[in-house]
Amino acid sequence: MNSYKIALLAGDGIGPEIMKQGVKVLTAIEARGQVKFQLLPALFGASAWFEVGSALPQETLNICDEADAILKGTIGLSHANTEKIPLDERPERAGLLPLRKHLDTYANFRPVYLPAGLKHFSPLKPEIVGDGVDIMIIRELVGGLYFGDKTLGIDENGQRYACETLEYTEFQIERILRVAFETAQKRKNILHNIHKSNVLKSSVLWNEILNEISSEYANVKVINMLVDAAATYLCLDPGQFDVMVMENMMGDILSDQGGGILGSLGLMPSACIGPNKAYYEPSHGSAPDITGQNIANPYSMLGSVAMMLEYSFGMKTESQEIFDAMEALFVEGYTTPDLKQPGVENKMISTDEFGDRVAAALR
Ligand code: NAD
Ligand code: IPM
Ligand code: MN
Repeated sequence: MNSYKIALLAGDGIGPEIMKQGVKVLTAIEARGQVKFQLLPALFGASAWFEVGSALPQETLNICDEADAILKGTIGLSHANTEKIPLDERPERAGLLPLRKHLDTYANFRPVYLPAGLKHFSPLKPEIVGDGVDIMIIRELVGGLYFGDKTLGIDENGQRYACETLEYTEFQIERILRVAFETAQKRKNILHNIHKSNVLKSSVLWNEILNEISSEYANVKVINMLVDAAATYLCLDPGQFDVMVMENMMGDILSDQGGGILGSLGLMPSACIGPNKAYYEPSHGSAPDITGQNIANPYSMLGSVAMMLEYSFGMKTESQEIFDAMEALFVEGYTTPDLKQPGVENKMISTDEFGDRVAAALR
């Protein structure tokens, strides 16, 4: 029987609430007797900082290194509470980004997916949503502005200033573009290359490399689009997109917009893939505004579990079963409050009940 070690980094805010549902689903799959999961909980995020003084303790890194895959909840504090932790020790800068760098998880898959049966969740008009939304955003995750040198200082005129560096090497660009081309080949052979080459030289290099390697993927039609225009088209005509590739910060922003066109960030799972290791996390944050109320939508977490089963363990059938079980729940009219629509009678369920129902369906 296959046996896998999974590090569990529940994190902050709604992280532990939705992680609990992820564990229910893994336990339900394990109960079928085909696979064993060894779950390894580890401290991470602001909660880890308060407990042991580091957002990414060495012990957690060791557990991640030992694990076959990593499942992460969410990290971060509210705008007001974040001041309680020194700037450079906060969980985003001192936890999540170093974890990504350590694991070299450069390819971040953020599916923006709404099947036809759930298109009513989208805030877009039905004629714009058409038969639903099915886009794969591929975000470069370990380069660019988020990882360049950063300084805050005072210049010769006594003015406070900030300086950040946006750096990409040929190696970094080429490897993410190859992932994007290969993904396009597994889907519809259409690739939207999102860039800002009218201003950024990093985009000029990015596009140059894309042109150089594109002949190796001759069956893929490349459509180049400026990132600002892409933001508009995501609202006006999302159906034109299939696979989209972009640098780190553009992917951060446009993927949250993806959650917007679906109707909730709670519908956004993700996979972060590196050469040797992968970790899986919801695309959204710790949602301090709804923490502790048992109302968070765990779809993003359960979808991340499903992506882990497929990408890390080759369990494509079980992965699909998780997505199918969640879709069936929604089709039956059950939702969490983030997807409540005015004038529609939904059967509201809690985070826990959502997890219980999906786990029951899998059993
Ligand atoms: P957020 O993504 O936490 O929340 C934005 C909005 O979406 C909120 O109204 C929230 O309630 C809602 N939302 C998010 N996930 C939901 C879910 N599963 N179900 C229902 N509603 C959901 O963004 P924010 O409020 O800007 O950031 C909060 C904190 O999260 C910050 O500290 C930020 O740095 C951090 N953050 C962490 C990650 C991560 O762990 N990968 C990602 C983004 C933001
Ligand atoms: C995300 C988040 C992170 C990012 C933050 C928390 C560092 O917004 O995963 O989308 O910007 O990458
Ligand atoms: Mn983000």
